[in-house]
This record gives sequence, C-alpha cells and structure tokens, in this order.
Amino acid sequence: MTALVARNVVAGYVPDLPILKGVSVTAETAKVTVIIGPNGAGKSTLIKAMAGLVPVSGGSVHLNGTEITNPRPDRMGALGVAYVPQSDNIFRSLTIRQNLDLVLRNAGAEAADRRESLFTQFPALADKQSERAGALSGGQRQFLAVAMALAINPSVILMDEPSAGLSPKAAQEVLEYAKSLTEEGVTILLVEQNVKQALRLADHCYILADGRNQVEGPAHELLNDPVVGQIYLGGKRVAPA
Ligand SMILES: Nc1ncnc2c1ncn2[C@@H]1O[C@H](COP(=O)(O)OP(=O)(O)O)[C@@H](O)[C@H]1O
Ligand SMILES: [Mg+2]
Repeated sequence: MTALVARNVVAGYVPDLPILKGVSVTAETAKVTVIIGPNGAGKSTLIKAMAGLVPVSGGSVHLNGTEITNPRPDRMGALGVAYVPQSDNIFRSLTIRQNLDLVLRNAGAEAADRRESLFTQFPALADKQSERAGALSGGQRQFLAVAMALAINPSVILMDEPSAGLSPKAAQEVLEYAKSLTEEGVTILLVEQNVKQALRLADHCYILADGRNQVEGPAHELLNDPVVGQIYLGGKRVAPA
C-alpha cells in the first residue's frame, strides 16, 4: 500500500523558476523511505511541497489514493500528516510542556491523555517539562520535535534531516525511534545526510540531484551499490548491519 505519493512534481519558490523539475517519490505505508542527495538537490523543497508549504505547479501529490496537491498546510494535521522541519522545529523560549500544548491545543478533550502518553514515551522530556526547550541537548530537542509531530496522531511523518547536528549516538537514537514507529503502522518519509545510517535502517531510498530523480531502490541494495558507495559513502563499500 502506498501512503504518500509525489508524481512528476514541479515546484519552486518563484514562478517559472522550478527547483523540482518533475520529481516522483512514493512512501509505502508503514515503511521508512529515505531521500538523499547533495546540498541544494531539492530534498527540503520536495518535503515542503508535499506538506503544502511550497506551491506545486505541475504533477500531483496523493495521500492514501486521494489527490491532495497544494493542500492548505494547516489542513495537513487533520489529514494525518505531520511535518518536522529541518531547523527551528521547536520554540526554544517556551517550556517543553508549552511546546507540546501548542500542538495539542486542537486535540480538545483528548489533549491531556495525549500529553500523558507522550511523556510516557519520552521520559527524558517528562522530567524536564517545565524547563525551556532551548536548554535541552540537541538530541532531546529532536525528540521534542518528533513528540510534537506525534501529538497529532499522524499516519505519515515527514522528517527533514532529523539527525542533523547530532552526535552519532543521538542520531542513531532518533533514526531508530522513527523506524520503531512503522511497527505501529506509521509511514516515515525522511530526508537524511547521514547516508550510511539512513540506508541501514530504511526500506526504500531515493537519490535526488538538481531537482530530479537520479537513482532509487531498496535501501539495502543501494548500500551495496558501488556507484552509490563511490558518490555518497566515501568510496568504501559498506556491509549491511
Ligand atoms: N525559501 C527559498 N527561496 C528561494 N529559493 C530557495 C528557498 N529555499 C531553498 N531554495 C533553493 O532551492 C534549491 C533547493 O534547496 P533545498 O530544497 O533546500 O535543497 P536540499 O534540501 O536538497 O539541500 C536551492 O538552490 C536553494 O537555494
Ligand atoms: Mg534540506
């Protein structure tokens, strides 16, 4: 089953200056799909186009078989799609609890239960719930960003470089947590620059460059692909974990 599909998407920030020149990506239900590629390839633009934050001028986006091209971004939560931006994904001057409550304000009577369940899932955040989010470590801030995404009970999470700037250990924790969500049926579409780590854990991978699809395939195959290894994995072939 496919959850989220971008088909031949043309999108950009300025009319007649497309950044994405016909990109196609499919996120299978309850799988981890990773998008990699050089800086400026259009990875963030693709995620934003799917989330309704960058206008799509060609092609289409479908969610569970229904076309949602150019959705109102504030409708994405109701559609069950959460987006974790690449940067500035939490409010540093607010407490952890206030950050979560911002997202939970639409949850009505369920808000308290959901907050409770998020604090159960993320005990480190619960312990610090009255502290300002800016005081958290980088890894904890990413977990808070993920917790804010989970607060809407999403079926699909779009994550833009969740491990950027983290220690290898914290990066692995965030990626493994994302993967664990697929066991509950959540679909993950991830942009990553930690290529090895991402390929070891993802199901499927797309490589973008210059606003176009380059290569795609099962993640474990790309991990062992000599050309991909040469370009993205530092020239060494990597054994699957
Ligand atoms: N807000 C913006 N306004 C105009 N151009 C942008 C904006 N954000 C990104 N771009 C341009 O779009 C291209 C792709 O950027 P991006 O999608 O962020 O790449 P990636 O995430 O793969 O590094 C780059 O040339 C970048 O300069
Ligand atoms: Mg980016």
